[in-house]
Order: sequence, then structure tokens, then C-alpha cells
Amino acid sequence: MSLLTRRRLLRRAALSATAAGAARTGLAGATAAGIAASTVALGGCDSPPERTTDPEPDRGLRFPDGFAWGAATSAYQIEGATKEDGRGESVWDTFSHTPGRIRNGDTGDVAADHYHRYAQDLDLMRDLGLRSYRFSISWPRIQADGSGRPNQRGLDFYRRLVDGLHERDIAPMATLFHWDLPQALQDAGGWENRDTAERFAEYADVVFRALGDRVPVWLTVNEPKTVVQNGYIWGHHAPGIRDEDAAYLVAHHLQLAHGLAVQALRASSLTGRIGPALNLHPCYPADDSAESAAATRLHDGYENRLYLDSIFKGAYPQDVLDDLGPDSRMVRGVRDGDLKIISSPVDLLAVQYYTPLYVTGARDTVRKWPTSEAEWQQIYPEGMYDILTRVTRDYGRVPITITENGLPCPDVPGPDGTVDDAGRVAFLRDHFAAAHRAVGDGVPLESYHVWSLLDNFEWAEGYEQRWGLVYVDYASQRRVLKRSAHWYRDVIRRNGL
Ligand code: FCB
Repeated sequence: MSLLTRRRLLRRAALSATAAGAARTGLAGATAAGIAASTVALGGCDSPPERTTDPEPDRGLRFPDGFAWGAATSAYQIEGATKEDGRGESVWDTFSHTPGRIRNGDTGDVAADHYHRYAQDLDLMRDLGLRSYRFSISWPRIQADGSGRPNQRGLDFYRRLVDGLHERDIAPMATLFHWDLPQALQDAGGWENRDTAERFAEYADVVFRALGDRVPVWLTVNEPKTVVQNGYIWGHHAPGIRDEDAAYLVAHHLQLAHGLAVQALRASSLTGRIGPALNLHPCYPADDSAESAAATRLHDGYENRLYLDSIFKGAYPQDVLDDLGPDSRMVRGVRDGDLKIISSPVDLLAVQYYTPLYVTGARDTVRKWPTSEAEWQQIYPEGMYDILTRVTRDYGRVPITITENGLPCPDVPGPDGTVDDAGRVAFLRDHFAAAHRAVGDGVPLESYHVWSLLDNFEWAEGYEQRWGLVYVDYASQRRVLKRSAHWYRDVIRRNGL
């Protein structure tokens, strides 16, 4: 069976293993797991958020001094204003405007209107007590066609955002690429074209020069694996391609782009730190057969080591290269010196954890735990502990930041206007506890960013899945702090659970 067919089957297996009904049941179970009753007051831009009247009992789980609690977003998912101030088109504009691609025909044209409401959103962050905010910079706002002279109005927007964060004592953490590739570069071959990595390094350099004095932490490429799998294997993310051979060449060029951006920062006089943002999936055998163990090992290669070994050890994993075969476009596309660029020393690793994967001897994935509203997400907090300790064990004591972890919930305002997302509170509490245990066992974890600050455009799912701590009423753009936001504020105050 070709790799392509095999992977399609894996995808189908993952899809068929989920059901919305089961997801809801899973959440209800988690909710019942003992959350203290609390009254949640309406918050948002107009009224300052009230505290919970009945915070959770103190579990005595404190994080290290200086631990930074934060929240994350990305440009295309929240900004809107896609045609303003000289912004060019991205692959996500094209993709979301293609009929049939996005649930309900949604687009990011308006999203959470953050481009216009960023000052109110900054106030929300301050009211929550965030110490760190992870956002992304829209490449087509900075270079409409992906190269050449920067667009000053685009840079000015991020300058205002970053200044506003500092004014509120919140540390900016900027991602350079969260999937919104300028369409003009896609037209020239996108990430299949090695040149795109060079263009990315130039763009990174422009951004470093403009904002580098105010941004202490940079993340290069968000989840290269998702671009590879969702964008180029399954085709349900931009650019909507289904070509496995192209996909792994894309994996290489995305990592080359990462390495070149690291080198660009080092070549500047800036002192900021930089690293990759990887979504890591702990992989477990579905049963105790030798076949499952072997299949799990290779699956781990594709999911994790394909990105970790290259960046931290300077070599792609041999089992994955063997599986791809010597004729694959990726294997043929790696040039002398590329791995040296890709493994340019980084200052930190950003880990994004959502789900474990269970692999059968036939290389299918199966579900062991309840899923969330996102069919691909099994709720398994232990996976957070496992992936953090594994990374530290296998790749050394590089400082780690969690840049995404969260849960979509069927959030609806109640009659009193409050949003009671008790399932999200339970989810976060269990994952924070797992992260705390990892810290106790020696993982150098320095910060944790919940995905997401705001409800937003969840890619192919449009606006149907709500991932925010803050509810967005898209019709009025009013923000309402959910119960989880109030709860999170207490966690931050306490620096733990
Ligand atoms: C991650 C993405 C992020 C968001 C969450 C739910 O894979 O990086 O933009 O969509 O999933």
C-alpha cells in the first residue's frame, strides 16, 4: 500500500473514530469531576470583569516564581480587516473564499475584528492578569506579495500592539508564521518552492528590525506538521493540496525557513530569544502486540521526530527517511548544509499539546479517550506530562513554553448573559496539574499559553467551534468573559492550582 493510501486510511480512521455525541458525553463526564460552584459575572469591553465569588479550593500546586501565564491567538483567526492598510492576500483568504472549503462558508474577513478592537482586547488581557501574550504577525500585512519593501502601516499595527502589551506589563511573544502565506508566494510554488524559505528569512529580518527592540521571544513557524498534513496531505486546510510527495518536501522547506529565521536573528544585534512552535502528539501502541509497537515507533517519527530530531539533533530520523524512500521529493530536496541551518541553536521550544494518538499494528489510529467537539482531540491530560518529560529526556534541558493547549466547548450565553464553560475549566485544571507534575520531575517549563484568548475563526470549522476564554458575540463583537476566564484569573493570581 502506498504511503499516500496508508495515510488517507489513517485519516479516515481518525475521523470515523469520533462522534459529536460521544464528545459531549466525554465533556459532561469531565465536568462532573468536581468543579466548585461559582457565580460568573458578565465581563467584557464595556464592564470591568467581576471576580468569581467562589474560587476553587486551593490544591497547593504552585508553579515556579516568575512562571508566565498567558493566552494565544493568531492573526488570520482574530484580526479581520483583510483588505485594510495595504494588506495583501494570503492563502487563507483564497481558501476560505473557495465555496465548500469552510463550514458554513465562513471567512476571516471580519473574524473577531481585533485589528480595530485591539486596545479593548489588551484591556481584557490586563484584567485577566496575563503575563504573556502569544500572537502572530500576518506576513501579507508586512509584505503584500511576500517580498520587497515592507508596508509601514502593517508594521505600525504590530508596534501599537506590542507597545500596548508593555504598557500593561504583558510580555509579547510573536509568531512569525501562523499559516497565512502571501498568495503571491503560493502562486510561485508556495512551500514546495525552496525560494519561499529565503523569502521568509527576509520577511523575518524586516520584522526583527521593526519590532525587535520590543519583542523578547520569537516563534518561527507554527506547527509545520499541520501545514504538511492538513494543507498538503488531506487538503482541508489552505492551500488545499492532496499530494503526499509534495507534503514532505514542504516539511523540509518549512524547517529550512525556521533555521534561516533563527540565523537572521543571530545576525542582528538583537538579544531576543527564538524557537520553533511544534504540535507534539505522544504516540502509544493501541495494544501490546509487537506490530503495534513497531507501527507506533514509525508514527512517532512522522508526528514528532521529523521536526524534533532535525532541529535539535541536526538529522532527520532514519526510519522516516527509509519509509519515504530515496526517490521522494523530500529526500531528493535536502541539500548539503540544510540540516546545519535547520539545527541552528534555539533558545527555547514551544510545545503545543492537544491530543494523544494510539496506533495499531496496521498503522491505523484508534480512539481511547472521549473526544471534544474537535473530532481529532482526545481528552488525555497525562499526555501533557508524557510529552513534556519525553522532550526533556530525549532532547536535553532546552527551556520549554507551552504555546497552545485548550478545548472547544458548545458555549452559549445563559439567560443572565454569563457563559458557563465548566468543561473547559475541568480540562485546563487537569492539564495544568499534569504540567505541574512535569515541572516537579525536572522539565524546565517557563510559561503556559491557553488556546485561545478569544473565540475565533477555527480554520476549516469556521466559527462553529469556540475555543476562547472570552466569548465573542460575532454580530455585535461584544466580548464576554467565560467562567474559565474568571477561573484562570484566580489561577494566575495564585500562580497555580
Ligand atoms: C492549532 C492551531 C491553532 C488552533 C488550534 C485549535 O493546531 O495552531 O491555530 O486552530 O489548533
